[in-house]
Amino acid sequence: MKLWQGRFDAPMSADADAFNESLSFDKKLYRADITASIAHATMLGRCAILSEEEASAICKGLNGILQDVESGALAVEGAEDIHSFVESELVARIGDTGKKLHTARSRNDQVATDFRLYVRESADEAMKLLVSLIETLLERAKEGARYVMPGFTHLRKAQPISCGQYFNAYSEMFLRDLDRFFALRRRMNVMPLGSAALAGTSYPIDREVTRALLGFDSVSQNALDAVSDRDFVAEYLFAASLTMAHLSRLCEDTILYTAEEFGYWNIPDAYSTGSSIMPQKKNPDLPELVRGKTGRVYGHLVSILTVIKGLPLAYNKDLQEDKEPFFDTEKTLFSCLAIYTALLKKITLNVNVMFDAAGAGFATATDVADYLAKRGVPFRDAHAITGKLVRYCIEQGKTLPALSLEEFRAASPVFEEDVLAAVTTRASAEGRSSVGGSSLAAVRSGIAAIKKRLKQY
Ligand code: ARG
Repeated sequence: MKLWQGRFDAPMSADADAFNESLSFDKKLYRADITASIAHATMLGRCAILSEEEASAICKGLNGILQDVESGALAVEGAEDIHSFVESELVARIGDTGKKLHTARSRNDQVATDFRLYVRESADEAMKLLVSLIETLLERAKEGARYVMPGFTHLRKAQPISCGQYFNAYSEMFLRDLDRFFALRRRMNVMPLGSAALAGTSYPIDREVTRALLGFDSVSQNALDAVSDRDFVAEYLFAASLTMAHLSRLCEDTILYTAEEFGYWNIPDAYSTGSSIMPQKKNPDLPELVRGKTGRVYGHLVSILTVIKGLPLAYNKDLQEDKEPFFDTEKTLFSCLAIYTALLKKITLNVNVMFDAAGAGFATATDVADYLAKRGVPFRDAHAITGKLVRYCIEQGKTLPALSLEEFRAASPVFEEDVLAAVTTRASAEGRSSVGGSSLAAVRSGIAAIKKRLKQY
């Protein structure tokens, strides 16, 4: 039986019922729904809207339902949504008193509250997973600080960088993601319960009681807005989308760096896959899947933004469409963060391959130009002189570190003996000691700063 059957002279047709229902997916809200209902009943008792006996019978009944759902003794099925399910189960267990639970409440403020409780917990879990990914990146950065690898722009070798600086770059991205979840969690921690259907309630409720019981920071200030606000879902999906974008970039690097053509990193066999036809293949399916799953998270963000955009005040059933995109996003985000963190712990670095690659392809040309500029040659001229030297190397089949002092001096008399040391791969990476740069000292202070910021969360 529907909660609202009284006004209708016929039961809902089966196809309409199946289309309308949400229990098949909102059953995930069972704990949030029961927790919020216990808080609501407690408040009704304290405010003498229900007797203390009625309130405690309701709370006891609800606790029993929670235990039975958790243990698997009670299957969540056979109702329109999770709210109807819990209420009718309560009435089945404690009788007519159960019918008083919905006093001074509507499913509109109920679902808005339940979902906030659920999303709040989910944001906490996302933050935990991000912290553990950043901790893993920090370990890799510490190990990699002394190693030099090629840095790319346009996927062409640009300048030698420190491996530590490379991993720190991703820590920066994930720290921003962490901060986004942290901020949205704070912004969403406002309680809609007590808004009732849309206009508020005429019962003498005390929203401060439910607020404190449910751990919200404040209560919503406008009932019309409170029952129809899903900004917190959109914000979560946006934070998840950017996190996935960053993970996807890291996965793209992982796929490239572990390819035979690069050979910078190895993925262990336990985290690789093979081919059904080509016996030699070792494929990077896991990072490819993370990269691929990014698309569905973006899709969910667009879907919630679209659901929200045309809604007249206040609650509309369209809002039931907030849940599936969220649940799929959460599941995707958590599994991607967890699997990539596990993979990153196991990746091995081929430090010699990276070092040799960093030295190839004239990656220290900027250092040659800087050498001249630091000795008074205007940078633009220094750039041109170095460009000619690179062309000379290409013609002669040489590299910059292999040139003799005479060859340097033929390009400019400003070059002295010390240029030979300045053009080595390690000197190049080590020379960039500006804040955030690739020198060992800069990378180490980068690691220290990331650790410090991480502690805030
Ligand atoms: N299943 C509904 C949802 O998720 C619960 C709220 C129903 N409210 C209503 N007025 N029909 O939005």
